[in-house]
Amino acid sequence: MPGFEFFGEEERKEVNDVLATGILMRYGFDGARKGIWKSKELEQAICSKFHCGFAQLTSSGTSALTTALAALGIGAGDEVIMPSFTFVASFEAVLSVGAVPVVVDVNESLTLDPVAVRKALTSATRCIMPVHMCGSMADLDALQEICRDHHLILLEDACQSIGASYKGRRLGTIGDAGTFSFDFVKTVTCAEGGAVLTNDQSIYLKCDGYTDHGHDHIGQDRGAELHPFIGYNYRISELHAAVGLAQFRKLDDFLSIQKKNHQYLQSELSKIPELKFRIIPDPAGDSHTFLSWFMPTRELTELLVDELKAQQIFGGNFYWFEHNWHYIRKWVHLKEGKTLNRLTEAQSKALMKLKTQDFSKSDAIMGCCISTAIGLGWTEEQRIEKGAKLSAAIRKILGNHAVPSSSRELNSVS
Ligand SMILES: Cc1ncc(COP(=O)(O)O)c(C=O)c1O
Repeated sequence: MPGFEFFGEEERKEVNDVLATGILMRYGFDGARKGIWKSKELEQAICSKFHCGFAQLTSSGTSALTTALAALGIGAGDEVIMPSFTFVASFEAVLSVGAVPVVVDVNESLTLDPVAVRKALTSATRCIMPVHMCGSMADLDALQEICRDHHLILLEDACQSIGASYKGRRLGTIGDAGTFSFDFVKTVTCAEGGAVLTNDQSIYLKCDGYTDHGHDHIGQDRGAELHPFIGYNYRISELHAAVGLAQFRKLDDFLSIQKKNHQYLQSELSKIPELKFRIIPDPAGDSHTFLSWFMPTRELTELLVDELKAQQIFGGNFYWFEHNWHYIRKWVHLKEGKTLNRLTEAQSKALMKLKTQDFSKSDAIMGCCISTAIGLGWTEEQRIEKGAKLSAAIRKILGNHAVPSSSRELNSVS
């Protein structure tokens, strides 16, 4: 799945270009850098490949989210609706701008349930933040309709879905803004980095300044630049951007390998009638980084996880329900409001509510879900072995513990 599986000469060449000039910073030093501007080049490459107006690179996906929220004007007391299944960065970014994370259920797409979103709306809601988890997408038509009806901002977290699309448009370019992560385990990696995408020039200009201490980037004398507003240092370095550029050029190859491996694995698991697959709102747009599937009940899922661990073939499979980073159930530090700096009253109240909020719908889905990461470097043999071992373990559990279809937990959710 991650681009680091395919590092090579291309990455080395781009990094060496930067090292040859010695200018590791993305701004300034115009003469000394001898025309080498890797960050700008990567921003332009993203815009032209994804038909997007503007891209601003950042130091990480988390800082991309923070930057996007700030540039969209979201701050103290504003409520941001986010899913129960995501990465901790979602609420970290919301809290960091003084806003209030409102966590709601996911559906079988493993992304925001539009019905749950509508129920969570209040007069303080400013933004809906779908997270396009595991390479696929949220139901953007339904979420855009809610945004239109209630004059809300749509911020797409596409950190895990670089290159995926929805109805012909790339994820991250559809909402008011979108974000990517280029951290070490992402489809395109540069070790640490991210990007904000937008088609609105005024939002882009805010991102440009915000990630560099509020600099207006006008003129060629960095020391003389003005600061129309306060910003921070969320800059990417030229070295990171250089790696990202080489990786980004390989994106189409990554996506086609993932698709081939994903299709094989799905065809193998499809032979087991008891399994269901994640709902994908636009199957043609999947980036195929993961194959996510459901066992009939949570109990069977847990037995399968134990079986896969016992056979030492659990690696590459993710049972998010038990995962500390990705699912509300294990976000104890969030529910207890454990921050180093003081929270606002609105934030504290919202976090307290999470302790008792009913997430049984999400639990029923996530408790039965396993996601299998799709490797880029699998050989034909490894792909076949993966499919065979996984299928055999699933059949073993289902064979030993038959479950009447009426008792399937997932059936009661949808
Ligand atoms: C959905 C999602 N959002 C945001 C991030 C944050 O990205 P980064 O690790 O680059 O800060 C991640 C990283 O895993 C992620 O998966």
